Amino acid sequence: MEKKILLKDEPLLQHPLLLLFALVIGFIFMDPFHFGPLGGHDYRPVKHDVAPYKQVMASWPKDNRSRLGSGKLEFVNEVYGPESLEFDLLGRGPYTGMADGRVVRWMGDSLGWETFATVTPTWSEKLCANGIQSTKGKQSKHEHRCGRPLGLRFDRNNGDLYIADAYFGLLVVGPEGGLATPLATHVDGKHILFANDLDIHKNGSIFFTDTSKRYNRVNHFFSLLEGEATGRLLRYDPTTGTTHVVLDELAFPNGVQISKDHSFLLFTETTNCRLMKYWLEGPRTGQVDIVANLPGYPDNVRLNERGEFWVAIDCCRTPMQEVLAHYPWIKSFYFRLPLKMSFLARMTAMEMYTVISLFNDKGEILEVLEDQKGEVMKLVSEVKEVNGKLWIGTVAHNHIATLPYP
Ligand SMILES: *[C@@H]1O[C@H](CO)[C@@H](O)[C@H](O)[C@H]1NC(C)=O
Ligand SMILES: *[C@@H]1O[C@H](CO)[C@@H](O)[C@H](O)[C@H]1NC(C)=O
Repeated sequence: MEKKILLKDEPLLQHPLLLLFALVIGFIFMDPFHFGPLGGHDYRPVKHDVAPYKQVMASWPKDNRSRLGSGKLEFVNEVYGPESLEFDLLGRGPYTGMADGRVVRWMGDSLGWETFATVTPTWSEKLCANGIQSTKGKQSKHEHRCGRPLGLRFDRNNGDLYIADAYFGLLVVGPEGGLATPLATHVDGKHILFANDLDIHKNGSIFFTDTSKRYNRVNHFFSLLEGEATGRLLRYDPTTGTTHVVLDELAFPNGVQISKDHSFLLFTETTNCRLMKYWLEGPRTGQVDIVANLPGYPDNVRLNERGEFWVAIDCCRTPMQEVLAHYPWIKSFYFRLPLKMSFLARMTAMEMYTVISLFNDKGEILEVLEDQKGEVMKLVSEVKEVNGKLWIGTVAHNHIATLPYP
């Protein structure tokens, strides 16, 4: 009797092939021998929110002349992964944070590049100064000891330089440079895992992004693939020396830029390929809007003198990205198979080329510049418009691109 009930309730036992199939699936999902590319890593893909691929691509303007292709690469092999670019109160620069952990500045043809600041006393020439090798994978082993300065901003009142470092949080260094002082390394008692970019409010508050609570910069790729949304917009208050969570559950928050009139700020959500607005003043204070869905993965946002916003985008997303965003179990399954991760990466993002786009304060697209063949610019991180010229940074290559503009 008992046996009969058991058989009735367990269709798997009645069908040996089904049982075998279930075991194989179970085995793949549990990956007990770590066959998958993550080798036992606790990978938890989740559903996330991307706008329909077709709709975004169809409405996105094309730069038929591929104007970024006529950009110039400067300082080739003199700077290593210059992510953010900044100019000081005297107009000197660019200053940039590099893959070897230093903030450097260009002092003109006769003096060249000089070290301006470091973000940690653990920085050493022996460990960190690896030249053009700095942007290679090997250096990433040392990043947590050398630092990886990303967002840079000068305080226009006193010439202090604020730095968002991927490992050492929010820091500041005086106009003469040197070892930067940490301002925010923790929030709610926990270490800030991945500070990324910042901007300075007129009342002294520093708004900055913390990209993920799960992955640091070296492992940022997992954050993008998982679609996880544990990133935050934080605010450091200098009057009290405290750090506050402004927004939580963001999907790879990256660049941040306060508007010219300080009524709102824009930030990018890289995983969801979109540009977001957070209201600082007026009836909608504290609310968030989607400004634009983008054709690729955005990084930093920077204001020009006219109050418009340049957004650096690594193009393009793919139809497959949309499918994987909606059905994360496909990714879970994939990761249990002995397949290469680069293949999955290629499915979610096409051959990368650069798109930079200018938005006005209403979120309308004013300009799109592309390098469709990916000949000149790849993996751009920031566009900064200064005196008739665009300065374009990259997190992964050893140069700065420039283009006369307008
Ligand atoms: C760019 O090319 C597309 C088709 O390839 C065309 O529809 C569009 O009008 C062109 N835009 C400009 C500004 O020439
Ligand atoms: C500064 O402005 C921000 C944004 O409106 C606000 O959240 C913060 O409380 C202000 N800080 C001070 C000290 O008034």
